[in-house]
Amino acid sequence: MSKTAMHAPIPPVQLDTTAQMPLYNQLYAGLRDAILSGQLAPGMRLPATRALASALQISRNTVVNAFDQLFAEGYLEGRVGDGTYVTRTLPDEMLRVAQKPSITTTRPTQSRHLSKRGEILAATSVTTERQKGRSVAFRPGIPAFDAFPSEIWSRLASRRWRRPPGDLVNYSDAAGYRPLREAIATYLGAARGVRCVPEQVLIVSGSQQGIDLAARVLLDPGDAVWFEEPGYLGARAALTAAEAQLVPVPVDQEGLNVAVGLARCLKAHMVYVTPSHQFPLGVTMSLTRRLALLDWAAHAGAWVLEDDYDSEYRYAGRPLASLQGLDSTGRVIYLGTFSKVLFPSLRMGYLVVPPDLIDPFTAARAITDRQAPVLDQAIVTDFIEEGHFTRHIRRMRTLYAARQALLVELAHRELAGLLTVHPADAGMHLVGWLADGTNDQVISQLAATHGVDAPGLSEYHLEQAQQSGILLGYTAVEEADIRIGVLHLGKALSTAVV
Ligand SMILES: Cc1ncc(COP(=O)(O)O)c(C=O)c1O
Repeated sequence: MSKTAMHAPIPPVQLDTTAQMPLYNQLYAGLRDAILSGQLAPGMRLPATRALASALQISRNTVVNAFDQLFAEGYLEGRVGDGTYVTRTLPDEMLRVAQKPSITTTRPTQSRHLSKRGEILAATSVTTERQKGRSVAFRPGIPAFDAFPSEIWSRLASRRWRRPPGDLVNYSDAAGYRPLREAIATYLGAARGVRCVPEQVLIVSGSQQGIDLAARVLLDPGDAVWFEEPGYLGARAALTAAEAQLVPVPVDQEGLNVAVGLARCLKAHMVYVTPSHQFPLGVTMSLTRRLALLDWAAHAGAWVLEDDYDSEYRYAGRPLASLQGLDSTGRVIYLGTFSKVLFPSLRMGYLVVPPDLIDPFTAARAITDRQAPVLDQAIVTDFIEEGHFTRHIRRMRTLYAARQALLVELAHRELAGLLTVHPADAGMHLVGWLADGTNDQVISQLAATHGVDAPGLSEYHLEQAQQSGILLGYTAVEEADIRIGVLHLGKALSTAVV
C-alpha cells in the first residue's frame, strides 16, 4: 500500500447516541455511504482508529467494530501497521449506488407493482399499533410474565442444548416433533375432550399461522365464512387476506347465533368460532348452539375452525368439552396455542385436523416455513411430560382469579357510574361496559393518554356495534399496577363524562 496515499479527512458521519441502532452500526453505515458516494475515494487512507474515535468522541472499540464490518464486506483493505484504505477495486456498479437504503425509501410506493395478494396483505393488519409496544395495564390476552417459571425453562433448555442430537438441530418433519404431538394429543384428550391420534396434531407457529393455513388449504377467494360479530382481529386479518367473504354473525349470551348465520348465508364454506370463551365478549357457547352449528356444518359441507385459545383459564364451573370432541363428521379443525399458557414469543401452537386433511395441511405448512424450531418443541415436550405444564396452569389459574377479583373490586369502588364491570368465570380479560351510545374508541384513546391500554369493543365489530365497552386484560398486570391502572382509567373516564 502506498505511503503517499491521500489521507481522508475525518468523515462527516452523524452519530446519534439516543438512537436504537448501535453506534458501530451507525458509523459503519456512514462510512459505507461516504465510500459509495465517492466522498471517500478508492485508495484513500482512513484516519487511525484511535484518532477517529477521539474526533467522533466514541470508544475505539466502536470504530474497530465498524472497520471490521467494512473489511469483511470488502469496502476497506489494509495491512497490519500500514493503515486502512478504501478498497481500490470497488466495482463501478457499487459506486453508483449512492442512495442509502432506509425504511422510507425501501417501502413500496404507489409506482411499485404489488401482486393483488401483496396489496391485500399490505392493507390488512393483525394487530393495532397500540399492541406492539410494552405491555401495560390493561392490554388483553397477555400472560403473567412475572410468574413464568423461567428457571425451570432455562434448566430444560440447557439440558437439551448441552449436546443436542442431530435430529433436534436438523430439518425435520413439517408436521412437528413427534413426542410433542403425542404429548398434545394426550393432553387434549384429557383436558378438552378432543378425539385425535398424534398424527392429526400439527405444530404451527401460533394460532395465527393455524388460521392462515386453514384459509389457504380450505378456501377460495370469495368463499363465504361466518365470522363472530364482534370477533378476533387476527382471524379477521388472515381470512380477509385469503379473500374470504366475511359474514358477520352476532354473538349473544349463548355464543354465535346459528339461526342468524343460517338466515344470512346458508351456504358458507367455513365458520370461525371461539366457543370456550368467545373473543372478545367472553361468553361460552351453549351446548344447544354447538349441536346446531355442527349440524349445519355437516349438512352444508362447511368447515368449523374452532379457536380454543385460552380454555385453560376457567375459574368456576366445569368447562364444556371442545366442539371437535362432539363432531362425528370430521368437519372441525381445532386450534390451540401456547401463547397464553406459556408465552407469545415462543410462537408455538397446534392444529388438530381430520385425518384426510393431514397431508394437505402438512404440505402447506412446509411451504410456508418448513417446520417449527425443533429444540423449542423438545423443550415444550419436556415441560409437559415432567408435569410443569399442568402445575404452571394451576398456579396461573389461582393468580389470574386473584387479579380478576382485585380488578372487579377496584372497578366497583373507583369506577362506579362510569364503567360496569362484572366478574367472569373464564378467560384473561373482562369487558367494561360503557353507557349505550358512548364512543368507545374515543374512551380508549383517552385511556391511552392516561397510560392505560383498553381497546374499544367496537374495534372488533364488522358492523355497527350495538353496545359500547372497553376490554380490560388483567392477567399480565401485577396488583400494584392494577390499582394504578384503575385510578388512571377513572381519570380518563371522568374527563370524558365532564
Ligand atoms: C381469539 C384468539 N385466538 C388466538 C390468539 C393467539 O394467537 P397466537 O397463537 O397467534 O399468539 C389470541 C391472542 O390474543 C386470541 O385472542
